[in-house]
Amino acid sequence: PQLSAAARAEIDRWVAKYPADRKSSAVMAALSVVQEENGGWISREYMDAIAAYLEMPPIAVYEVATFYSMYELEPVGRHKICLCTNISCMLCGSESLQSHLEQRLGIRMGETTPDGRFTLKEVECLGACAHAPVAQLGHDYHEKLTPERLDEILDGLE
Ligand code: FES
Repeated sequence: PQLSAAARAEIDRWVAKYPADRKSSAVMAALSVVQEENGGWISREYMDAIAAYLEMPPIAVYEVATFYSMYELEPVGRHKICLCTNISCMLCGSESLQSHLEQRLGIRMGETTPDGRFTLKEVECLGACAHAPVAQLGHDYHEKLTPERLDEILDGLE
């Protein structure tokens, strides 16, 4: 696939922030733009398109895309629930949040519901330990979570 005109325009906006010979500096922004525009994940073909657009080797795009957990390289549900299970969140109850989510959605961590609505994902520290336990849904952080609060959030989505 080719990058859409809108994606190219947005990527160009980022490219303009860097020196002319450093187009590749916009790779993270480009991955986010493409992911956002294509149902929340980035195919290998799109990574190749980004590489060509930013004039960088495809492997350098794959390296970035596979390093950061915010990029999805397989299709995901419409709502991606990223639950932090690092130490602060674990001490504050992320395990019970995990089992609550797995039970409610009928899937395990790393899986997507058959109707394509939800993906559950375990993530490393989200940088909000003081407000543990924390989960990220879309662009929103939800802090000091309880199973009840999670239910309210999910009910709001459905
Ligand atoms: Fe969960 Fe830091 S350990 S936000």
